[in-house]
Formats: sequence, C-alpha cells, structure tokens
Amino acid sequence: MSSFRTLGLASQALLVLSMFVRASVAIMSGTCTCSLNPTTTIVLYIQAILFTGSNSNYTEYPVAGIQGTEYSITQFATFYVFDDPVTISSSPTSTMVGRYRGIFAVASLDGKVLYLSATIQFTGGQYANSTINIEGLASTVVNMPMQLSIDGGTNAFNNAIGNVTLETISSIGPNIVLKATINTRNAI
Ligand SMILES: *[C@@H]1O[C@H](CO)[C@@H](O)[C@H](O)[C@H]1NC(C)=O
Ligand SMILES: *[C@@H]1O[C@H](CO)[C@@H](O)[C@H](O)[C@H]1NC(C)=O
Ligand SMILES: *[C@@H]1O[C@H](CO)[C@@H](O)[C@H](O)[C@H]1NC(C)=O
Repeated sequence: MSSFRTLGLASQALLVLSMFVRASVAIMSGTCTCSLNPTTTIVLYIQAILFTGSNSNYTEYPVAGIQGTEYSITQFATFYVFDDPVTISSSPTSTMVGRYRGIFAVASLDGKVLYLSATIQFTGGQYANSTINIEGLASTVVNMPMQLSIDGGTNAFNNAIGNVTLETISSIGPNIVLKATINTRNAI
C-alpha cells in the first residue's frame, strides 16, 4: 500500500518534470506555434476506405456490433476503429500531412447518427508534431455536413477550442473523401 503511494508520488513528480522539460524544449527550439489567435481556418482532406467484407485496403474497420446484424455505418451499435490518411488536397495521392485516428459508434437507433472521438496527428507540414482532438455527433447520411467540436490538442493546438465541418466530397465504392474545415484557436 505505502509502496503504491510512493510509486504514485514518484510518477507524478516524473510527469510534472517531463511536462516542464517538454515545455522548455518547445520554447527553446521554437517548435510551438502557441498563438492561433484569432481563429485560424485549416482545410484538409481525409481519405477513408471502409471495410466491405472482402477488401484488404481498408482504413475504417467495424470491430463489434449487435450479434446477428451486418456491421455497417448505418447499423445501430456498430463500433468502428479508423486510421485514415490526411492529405492537402482531395486527391488520395496528394501530400499526406497526418493521420485521422479514432473510434466511432453508430449511436442512434435509426442508424443516422454516430458518436465520434478522434485525433488528427500531424506528421508533416507547418503543424508537424501537433495533434488536435475532435469529438461529437455526426451524420451517417452522405452529403449532410457533419459538425464536430474541438476539445483540445497539443503543441500548435495546445488548449485548442473550435469546430470542424466534415463534408463528403466523393464516395465511390468503399473510398470516401471528406473535406475537413477546421476553425480553431488556443483558448489560453
Ligand atoms: C517535429 O519533430 C521533429 C523531431 O523532433 C523535428 O525535427 C521537427 O523540426 C519538428 N517539426 C516541427 C514543425 O515542429
Ligand atoms: C480498395 O479496394 C477496393 C476493392 O477491393 C477498390 O474498389 C478500391 O478502389 C481500392 N481503393 C484504393 C484506394 O486502392
Ligand atoms: C465554427 O467556428 C467559427 C469560428 O469561430 C464560427 O464562426 C462558426 O459559427 C462555428 N460554426 C459552428 C457550426 O459552430
């Protein structure tokens, strides 16, 4: 019991120390663009490929659902995990600047609404090494824009708030291209 407490305190101290070190490193190397004020608008494209039951090139996969139902993005209680490339234009072969990674579950009985929680992890471009967290309800009806909230992030998006609009700009077979319009600023 006491050793657990000691461990807890030690790891807390380590966490505080590592946060301090990281903050100092960011300031020293100038990697933190901590001033997205006023609101900055960033437009990106998400390249999703749904699992269809037979394709091997999927980036969105249904892992669970109601036994006996066919798992799909319009079946209530289907749970997906996704890892989609994020590109600078609508073409899937355009420059990739990050990944859109997360989970969603079809959260309305009529299959028209999903609950989503995701992070855009930037790996290239001016926001490399930053992340932005997205959350909320979204429509599964193609061509109905989805509006989600931004509830945090790291580095450039430290303490970010704002919103994201996702629009389906192309849907051919399992391939879906979403246009993401991100409106964000640092809250503090
Ligand atoms: C991202 O991190 C890498 C490795 O730490 C560094 O070389 C690079 O300059 C960083 N890029 C930005 C935009 O901060
Ligand atoms: C993925 O595979 C499916 C068929 O299995 C195909 O229709 C689709 O075009 C492929 N997508 C990409 C981006 O290669
Ligand atoms: C998204 O944020 C922008 C900029 O703050 C704001 O003008 C717009 O009304 C917001 N949209 C939604 C749907 O919240």
